[in-house]
Amino acid sequence: MVQCVHTVKELRNILKPLKAQGKTVGLVPTMGALHPGHATLISQSSKQNDITVVSVFVNPTQFGPNEDFDAYPRTLDNDLKVVEGAGGDIVFAPSPKEMYPSEDMTWVEVTGNITKVLCGKTRPIHFRGVATVVSKLFNIVAPTKAYFGQKDAQQVEVLKRMVKDMFFDLELVVVPIAREQSGLARSSRNTYLSDEEKSQATVLCAALNLALESFKSGNNDLESIINITKQKISSSEIADIEYVECYGLPGLYELKDKIQAPSLLAVAVRFGNTRLIDNIILE
Ligand code: PAJ
Repeated sequence: MVQCVHTVKELRNILKPLKAQGKTVGLVPTMGALHPGHATLISQSSKQNDITVVSVFVNPTQFGPNEDFDAYPRTLDNDLKVVEGAGGDIVFAPSPKEMYPSEDMTWVEVTGNITKVLCGKTRPIHFRGVATVVSKLFNIVAPTKAYFGQKDAQQVEVLKRMVKDMFFDLELVVVPIAREQSGLARSSRNTYLSDEEKSQATVLCAALNLALESFKSGNNDLESIINITKQKISSSEIADIEYVECYGLPGLYELKDKIQAPSLLAVAVRFGNTRLIDNIILE
């Protein structure tokens, strides 16, 4: 049976004796509305750790003023079933007040190119909110390993930098993107899509794969790879491109004319009112 707790104190009281017995703890941070993509992180954690804690918290500080904080799906009852099915043990579902007890904020902010490019351009406060809440979760749970999806590739780069710079004593595990059979990357925001938008959105995965194929066959020209991706996405009339960009890994460094492996090719595209992101590693 999955245990669901709402306070830091309760969670620490449960974890303390388990840790004293030498048990390893995996942490899977989420905002809930759990789907099979989240489930792959939870099952990997449950295979690699004695105890798996899944946090379910729609984090207000990572949403901009015109973003979907209020509309974001909240489905705790179903989330508990997904966690149970994937082998998780404890759900930590705190209130905003529990996570942010003081009105004045203590921020954790990763600076530099890594938070300025891609989603950082249109979502200037997003990664500060992510780094702050994830550092709180790391301090509350003190996990052996923490699991994040490659779906949010920039988030992974930001958090890897944060773990290194703040000397968090844990291993950050990156899990591949879970996709629907159509190729569409699984996302809690897919529930906003109409059937037509959903079928059109499969063009993202197709475009990224086309670019990878071209790169693998010897095309390492930055502009050409970006154009191939943009052209394919534009074959969907309703696709409204926010960005198609490519940066070097690790750390999302700027590329000059030529793509070096490994690099991240990432896209953000609107279908109707829904903004989707997807990416592929060119290597
Ligand atoms: P959320 O969007 O709920 O995602 C939780 C975790 O699941 C993230 O690490 C995300 O990359 C991963 N994930 C989502 N869809 C996935 C997919 N299709 N394949 C693989 N992994 C997938 O990301 C967040 O929440 C928040 O920013 C959070 C880290 C919890 C901080 O609030």
